[in-house]
Amino acid sequence: MIVIENLSKKHGKHQVLEDISFKVNGGELVTIVGGSGAGKTTLIHTLIGAEKIDSGNIKIDNLVVNKLSPAKVQDYRRHIGIIFQDYKLLPQKTVFENVSFALEVAGYDKNFINQRTTDVLKLTGLEAKRNHFPRQLSGGERQRVAIARALVHNPELIFADEPTGNLDPENTAALARLFLKINKSGTTIILSTHNKEVVKILGERIITLQKGKLVSDTKK
Ligand SMILES: Nc1ncnc2c1ncn2[C@@H]1O[C@H](COP(=O)(O)OP(=O)(O)O)[C@@H](O)[C@H]1O
Ligand SMILES: [Mg+2]
Repeated sequence: MIVIENLSKKHGKHQVLEDISFKVNGGELVTIVGGSGAGKTTLIHTLIGAEKIDSGNIKIDNLVVNKLSPAKVQDYRRHIGIIFQDYKLLPQKTVFENVSFALEVAGYDKNFINQRTTDVLKLTGLEAKRNHFPRQLSGGERQRVAIARALVHNPELIFADEPTGNLDPENTAALARLFLKINKSGTTIILSTHNKEVVKILGERIITLQKGKLVSDTKK
């Protein structure tokens, strides 16, 4: 369970997040919406331990994320999946290598890496592209590689910040449905978007931010 308690954060004098509180149960799919500048990215950055907070607490199961040392933050990040709007793929590596890279670094054996990578490439519809390089892929395919990469170590929790930000409407809908499928398999997802189509597809629970405040939290 994720418990956010009275989270506040300033950038200089600007109150970017103000007294945000909410809870997320294991297996939930939470969509965070709000206009540009509402604080979505900052909120997700604080939840993954990439930005400090001024007050409040971020508890993930028994972990208090805002109290972790830098080494423990790295540890925590290895247990979650993170997806951003810009894909940050390695241009010199193939799709397969981009996805399997984290498992190689972690020292898994070759058979396991092959199997697990092939499984997530299937799930994300990228099997036929496994030997392609990022430059040979469409935007939608690149973002699916980023998702496959986030999934490869089988995280229980995924954070995605505007994952469809750079995609056309068709790819946007397809990607939203992929997130739905990943969630149905049991993964908790916290995703930010300002895309109405994504909200329509995913919006079982919607948290709305406005100028750094949580103004509504609704569940279908
Ligand atoms: N590093 C920073 N320094 C100063 N202000 C920032 C910084 N990052 C974000 N902000 C400000 O915080 C507010 C929220 O930004 P952000 O979290 O990126 O919103 P969103 O993702 O909803 O568009 C904006 O007003 C933005 O200008
Ligand atoms: Mg943002």
